[in-house]
Amino acid sequence: MPGGVITGWGAALPETVVTNKDLEARLDTNDAWIVERSGIRERRVGGTVSELATEAGRRAIDRAGASPSDVDLVVLATSTPDLAVPATSAKVHQTLGLSGSAFDVNAACAGFVYALVAAFGTLALSAAHRVLVVGADCLSRITDPDDRSTAVLFADGAGAVVVEGTDADGSLLAVDLGTDGSAYDLLTCPHGGFMAMEGREVFRRAVRVTVESATAALERAKLSAEDVSLFVPHQANLRIIEAAATRLGIPMERTAIVLDRTGNTSAATVPLALADAADAGRLAPGDVVLMTGFGAGMTWASLVLRWTAERSG
Ligand code: ACO
Repeated sequence: MPGGVITGWGAALPETVVTNKDLEARLDTNDAWIVERSGIRERRVGGTVSELATEAGRRAIDRAGASPSDVDLVVLATSTPDLAVPATSAKVHQTLGLSGSAFDVNAACAGFVYALVAAFGTLALSAAHRVLVVGADCLSRITDPDDRSTAVLFADGAGAVVVEGTDADGSLLAVDLGTDGSAYDLLTCPHGGFMAMEGREVFRRAVRVTVESATAALERAKLSAEDVSLFVPHQANLRIIEAAATRLGIPMERTAIVLDRTGNTSAATVPLALADAADAGRLAPGDVVLMTGFGAGMTWASLVLRWTAERSG
């Protein structure tokens, strides 16, 4: 069966930086609480999902040495589309001048990994040759700026990768996907409203599903935690990441972290952390990468792949 390999990656963040000090000025909160409870120091806000996705997508295509007309599918993971209809991937298709097809995926913060699975599946069916996979969200649009329990956490950003088809096996080693619909009410946002979250319960479940899903994916790949060169978890809370990494037996030196600078950008966190690590030269051909996302739904997804792109920098 044809496989796929990641050949390019890119990130896009809005220019406006909001620090914890900025939040202190208008909310009953403080830098020490935010850092201690979440690990977040600053975040970026602004723009639209299509603008950020287009920028991240263009960078990923450039990095892959391709041109937009070479991309025959774009899959965009987002929970904050520009419009209800049409899909925001169609806007990205328009602004980048892509060929082929486009669709959106909504699996909340696990969305990018779901989109990546969809891309590998499409390549395996030979229904596309070069796929742009984007995770992009503007959570500031659906966050109550006066609610200190969510306003300090959520932010905006986009990350993207290009996956190219190959006749060889490709780099995908295993996936694990899951949803627990009984947790549907834990994190919700009505049309036109703001997000409401049972933070403590989400925290508890997030650690558990991250560990279980990552373990299942590694087992399917016949690998163990020692084999993982880079763990790229959803960036919601540093304490969730540290607890999950400890239970998995993966040290923080082999874990990608961007949330101190970006906050929780939902579907964008995994590709932002991956792009950051790749740009920093932390990935070399042959490295095993484990990505795990979890989010509202409650959804989760893990993917194990062997990195093939040359080291940057
Ligand atoms: N500043 C100061 N105090 C605050 C703030 C704030 N920003 N927010 C809440 N508090 C207070 C609370 O009111 C509470 O006060 P009380 O003890 O007087 O009642 C106290 O701090 C402790 O609140 P908890 O909610 O118990 O704090 P916790 O340690 O659980 O941290 C947090 C809260 C950061 C939200 C944590 O529970 C968490 O990260 N949960 C997971 C969230 C998550 O992962 N969400 C993303 C899911 S992905 C997606 O789909 C978008």
